[in-house]
Amino acid sequence: MRKAIGLMLASLVIFCADAQTVKLNSGYDMPVLGLGTWTLKGDVAEKAVYSALKSGYRLIDTARYYGNETEVGRGIRKAVDEGICKREDVFITTKLVPWSNTPDSDIDDSLEKLGVDYIDLILLHQHGSNDDAVYRAMCRAVKAGKVRSIGISNFYTEKGVSHFIKNFDIPPAVVQNENHIFYQNNQLRDWAKGQGIYIESWYPFGGRGHTKDHLQNPTVLEIARAHKKSAAQVIVRWHIQAGYIVIPGSSNPAHIAENYNVWDFTLTDAEMSQLEGLDKGVRYENW
Ligand SMILES: NC(=O)c1ccc[n+]([C@@H]2O[C@H](COP(=O)([O-])OP(=O)(O)OC[C@H]3O[C@@H](n4cnc5c(N)ncnc54)[C@H](OP(=O)(O)O)[C@@H]3O)[C@@H](O)[C@H]2O)c1
Repeated sequence: MRKAIGLMLASLVIFCADAQTVKLNSGYDMPVLGLGTWTLKGDVAEKAVYSALKSGYRLIDTARYYGNETEVGRGIRKAVDEGICKREDVFITTKLVPWSNTPDSDIDDSLEKLGVDYIDLILLHQHGSNDDAVYRAMCRAVKAGKVRSIGISNFYTEKGVSHFIKNFDIPPAVVQNENHIFYQNNQLRDWAKGQGIYIESWYPFGGRGHTKDHLQNPTVLEIARAHKKSAAQVIVRWHIQAGYIVIPGSSNPAHIAENYNVWDFTLTDAEMSQLEGLDKGVRYENW
């Protein structure tokens, strides 16, 4: 009976706006706010990760494609060595390229580069020529204890996500997609919720190149003034209250700290609706 209740809970997405973590369908907890590291290279990546962990973050997002797993690993190790956090308290996400013919050894290589003996979450980075074989390798890695949870990225339709639910032993726990105030795929989020899957937002500020449109949006600024918070903090808070996991990217320690300082205010229902009203349904990227 107890096992049956546990299984029922594991397949439900339960969201509480004040919680700093969510329970994935794998049974593991995942922080709802993390640091994105795309385009951060070398020392910049290492320092950003270290600075994030010092500011309280416990979720770090990287990918094989970003070419910074070694530096991300170094940033984590520095924080662990200094007693800022323990390895087991940090949730590390990396991603596999979908065209790889060597996904098993790619996972081993990521473990080595990150300097860890397990990875918290591995995502299939996007749709590609070898999707199924890569996802199968991810399932094998879970069974081998190398990876705790798996997911997919850049799948925007129920049909695309359903493929991985129907055809593999382990369903995705997370779908990481472009998602922001100007592109809100609420339909997918609501459907995924019923499947026990969380949506994780990339480009919360529009990515490098579009940040002004987001951070200087008059509606966002008006709400920010009402709460005496910054536009970035309002946007991060909107993602969390809307039920998303969110990973703003930054190389600037002041921005990194600012983006994490979102636990002391709550957007009202009216403010949430105002921000929802900004949706244009258009993505910046089409990968
Ligand atoms: N799965 C995928 O295909 C995919 C694709 C894209 C991204 N991602 C992930 O999602 C993460 C987030 O996306 P992103 O980093 O590309 O874009 P983003 O988070 O939307 O925006 C990053 C930009 O915002 C600026 N910024 C951050 N905090 C700020 C603040 N408080 N005030 C003013 N400016 C601020 C950053 O500049 P500073 O460095 O100066 O702070 C940077 O220029 C990535 O890092 C990556 O981990 C995944």
